[in-house]
Amino acid sequence: PAIHVITPTYSRPVQKAELTRLANTLLHVPNLHWILVEDGQKRTPLVSRLLRDTGLNYTHLNVETPRNYKVRGDTRDPRIPRGTIQRNLALRWLRETFNINNSQAGIVYFADDDNTYSLELFEEMRSTKKVSVWPVAFVGGLRYESPKVNTFGKVYGWKTVFDPHRPFAIDMAGFAVNLRLILSKPQAYFKLRGVKGGYQESSLLKELVTLNDLEPKASNCTKVLVWHTRTEKPVLVNEGKKGFTDSNVEI
Ligand code: UGA
Ligand code: MN
Repeated sequence: PAIHVITPTYSRPVQKAELTRLANTLLHVPNLHWILVEDGQKRTPLVSRLLRDTGLNYTHLNVETPRNYKVRGDTRDPRIPRGTIQRNLALRWLRETFNINNSQAGIVYFADDDNTYSLELFEEMRSTKKVSVWPVAFVGGLRYESPKVNTFGKVYGWKTVFDPHRPFAIDMAGFAVNLRLILSKPQAYFKLRGVKGGYQESSLLKELVTLNDLEPKASNCTKVLVWHTRTEKPVLVNEGKKGFTDSNVEI
């Protein structure tokens, strides 16, 4: 099956670096389709060129996360989780593009632009029947968080400190979904409002599966194949107000 990788992304000094690194990873993965969704009013030339130059099979979309005008000019509504509207647009695109009866087999994975992905991860997720799960490093104040797997290979809970009683106490990077399941539950989206921190993943997954359906990967969740890395914001103080370097040079 093809792997559809959904990545929300937004404009900032490190964006091109993040996308370059992620593209370099994805270039090693056979039969992959990258759905890159820009958080903005339009698709930017920077991202358009980058995608074209990678030679990857991709779809380029955009939707802007609404801002909260009530509080202050351009502050983002903190209640709207990061990248969620973009992921939902990609889910809609998949449902409008593929048909449950005639579409090729596929797997859907939500890959943020700043994480670190092993190549092994993509091969693990390729056999996903409904929803597969695995550990993710550097989340929830732990070296890694993981699904709890019993001796029969069934997921029965979550090895997390932060709210282990969430229906699915798992980071966005910790699961993949079969495309068929996405198509067969056309109402399943990430909830945008009234979702407490850490409940975003659950808001989608509880529409798709129960705990009993989950398929543990990465040697029954004993291996770490993805890292929730975060990139340090570069210090650009010497640019000053007007900018010191040539603004025509893309970074
Ligand atoms: C954590 C989770 O790992 C994310 O999956 C989750 O979306 C996020 O928290 C959240 O709910 O706020 P974190 O590293 O804090 O991730 O978030 P970012 O990596 O900054 O953002 C997640 C994704 O959304 C990235 O691909 C980023 O490029 C994108 N994003 C972020 C936007 O599209 N717009 C933004 O304004 C911010
Ligand atoms: Mn991140």
